[in-house]
Amino acid sequence: MNVNGRHYRTIWLNDDGWSVGIIDQTRFPHLFETVTLASAGEAATAIRDMLVRGAPLIGVTAAYGVALAMRADASDAALAAAYELLVKTRPTAINLKWALDEMMRSLKPLPPAARAAAAYRRAAEIADEDVAINQAIGRNGFGIIQAIAAARPGKTINILTHCNAGWLATVDWGTATAPIYTAHDAGLPVHVWVDETRPRNQGASLTAWELLHHGVPHTVIPDNTGGHLMQHGLVDLAIVGTDRTTAQGDVCNKIGTYLKALAAHDNGVPFYVALPSPTIDFNVVDGVKEIPIEQRGGSEVSHMTGRTADGRIETVEIVPRGSQVANFAFDVTPARYVTGLITERGVIAASRDAIAKAFPERAGTRSG
Ligand code: MRU
Repeated sequence: MNVNGRHYRTIWLNDDGWSVGIIDQTRFPHLFETVTLASAGEAATAIRDMLVRGAPLIGVTAAYGVALAMRADASDAALAAAYELLVKTRPTAINLKWALDEMMRSLKPLPPAARAAAAYRRAAEIADEDVAINQAIGRNGFGIIQAIAAARPGKTINILTHCNAGWLATVDWGTATAPIYTAHDAGLPVHVWVDETRPRNQGASLTAWELLHHGVPHTVIPDNTGGHLMQHGLVDLAIVGTDRTTAQGDVCNKIGTYLKALAAHDNGVPFYVALPSPTIDFNVVDGVKEIPIEQRGGSEVSHMTGRTADGRIETVEIVPRGSQVANFAFDVTPARYVTGLITERGVIAASRDAIAKAFPERAGTRSG
């Protein structure tokens, strides 16, 4: 995607050929700043503190984290230590473990002297694969939007999304946003309802920023607004992302997604989930029971950061001192509320059979 006329991915290899550039997403929407990662430890901190976030992007960052570790020390012990350090940074998004497993599979059989170059190569491939997957998701999801547009020529198509499953959550294009960008670029009149997504406001800070820069009409709404809009016919479809999709099609995504799916179900609004196949975890079936839900620090709930009238970035407290807060970062939407999964191989049912049929090479390989 372009930022001020320059094309950016969300992660890249710097000109020195070894350090890794990222965009610091904690500074959005008011500041656009890049950061250099020079070690696996820095990559781990960037993931844990959410300078990078979004399931696909944290996977790619972890892959580059392994490459940085191999550059410093390519022994078996260092490879195992890098894996352990990075895999523990965030527990819910399975792309992280998927990418680290990919790195392990590529590097372990190699002699240490060959590992650093191979690690950079595989990390770059994973990044490129993510871009290609998201473009395919864009093409496949475009068909859904096109069909709605064809049924109501000339009318605006209102799409609700939650959190940021956009360009910033991936290497480029995004998952949930890829069909939206594709439709907008093709001239379809789309408008996006952007859930603000408390507590970290990924919708208000990131998705809105992306859509604004790409020129896609959008409106930021408080998280609790979607149900009302659906009751009044103001949402044609919802498209969200996912951090982990189970073998039977349950979808774990940013906290609040489940409530939107319930409201969509009650109002007959199609509820689609866009996902790259590395987000499917064939080792889990019942998402509610089996997926570990990240709990983050209470300050994300008790405090908010924003820009003051005189341009300063300030953090303020919004909860009385002494009140307890809880910060569950994700929830699970059972497959029965999902109209369809938009994947790189087409739009499929959120069911065990459809997922296994679309990705047979992965369905057969459950790992530890
Ligand atoms: O906590 P975050 O910001 O990493 O959560 C991100 C989401 O929930 C996204 O919807 C998900 O990772 C899909 S990104 C293509």
